[in-house]
Amino acid sequence: MQAPELTIVLPAYNEAKNIPLIVEKIGATMGKIAHEIIVVDDNSPDGTARITRELVGQMPHVRCIRRVGRRGLSGACLEGMMAANAPIVSIMDADLQHDETKLPEMLQAIKKGADLVIGSRYIDGGDHASGFVQSRRAKGSELATSLANYITGNFTTDPMSGFFMLTRDAADKAAEFVSRDGFKILFDIVSRFGNELKIVEVPFRFRERAEGESKLGFLVTIQFIGLLVSRFTGGIIPMRFMLYGLVGFTGLGVHMAALFTLTDGFGFEFATAQWISALLAMTSNFILNNEVTYAHRKLTGTKFWYGLLTFYIVCSVGALANVSIATSIFELNQSTAFAGLVGAVMNAVFNYAVTKLVTWRDT
Ligand code: GDD
Ligand code: MN
Repeated sequence: MQAPELTIVLPAYNEAKNIPLIVEKIGATMGKIAHEIIVVDDNSPDGTARITRELVGQMPHVRCIRRVGRRGLSGACLEGMMAANAPIVSIMDADLQHDETKLPEMLQAIKKGADLVIGSRYIDGGDHASGFVQSRRAKGSELATSLANYITGNFTTDPMSGFFMLTRDAADKAAEFVSRDGFKILFDIVSRFGNELKIVEVPFRFRERAEGESKLGFLVTIQFIGLLVSRFTGGIIPMRFMLYGLVGFTGLGVHMAALFTLTDGFGFEFATAQWISALLAMTSNFILNNEVTYAHRKLTGTKFWYGLLTFYIVCSVGALANVSIATSIFELNQSTAFAGLVGAVMNAVFNYAVTKLVTWRDT
């Protein structure tokens, strides 16, 4: 077997039916160009890893990395890039939405000196509408793209593209910076050091998914908004804290709704109603944080209940500290707003920092 010129990384979650198709299509396009294909599977229940390994018999250039206990597109892409044997690496969806016939052209661009080649849906010759089922989604994607562009500083017309190629050097560098959360690895690379890279774009038509369904739903959108805001603040406020804060606001809504329902609707005494509402708000905050903020470390089974317990405890300690600090400040300067705000912000930071470590053990 020849040393590969190009490594193609295919992140795949539940793509068992698509893997043989995409591998065959890549083979047809690449012809004599020596390449390897690395499928990065996150232990998909549909047997993506098994199907990939079955191919290896006839196609030794195909490999599979099966990650257990982890989920996430960016992390999967990174891991594939780091395992690449070739000096040039490409990332591509496994569901046939990306146009593999562009690979040789992208490879040429790298050989001519580019560090990063981006498959773009938004330059002449590119197209994205066909890949989206409804036009509403296409509009959403355009909006997200403009926002992302604004933040990344217009290094590319398509910072949300999942189809790109880069040199090993650029990949190695990226590995030290990019966030393993979420699904916007290209966005991350370009926004952090787009100015140091020679970037070339190649248009492609975003096709319809062959089999299965998209994994990028509501959750990913929310995480992306968190990432954007975080970048917007120059990374001072971590993305996860942003999400935690967002969840906190919904908790406030839950608390107030429960409080009014219990007092006005069911005639509970204020103090009792306030206790129950606080407990409900903490519970809903825990569930939402578990689903959204800490989706990558989601607690299930007994760990869920143990996590809920630690969450209650930490939040209660936070609330006690909040009240005592706010009271001391109030005694000093008599400003209700200032004292209340300091207490609340401290409370939020404390809860965030401690539950991150204790409840979700995210270090
Ligand atoms: N290993 C792994 N782990 N792979 C994943 C995961 C994961 O958690 N989530 C998604 N993938 C794989 C999918 O199996 C697919 O091969 C690829 O990543 C893209 O996921 P899709 O679920 O098909 O995403 P999409 O088609 O909705 O989004 C595409 O278009 C976006 C632009 O609108 C992707 O190319 C995005 O990167 C792109 O931003
Ligand atoms: Mn897709």
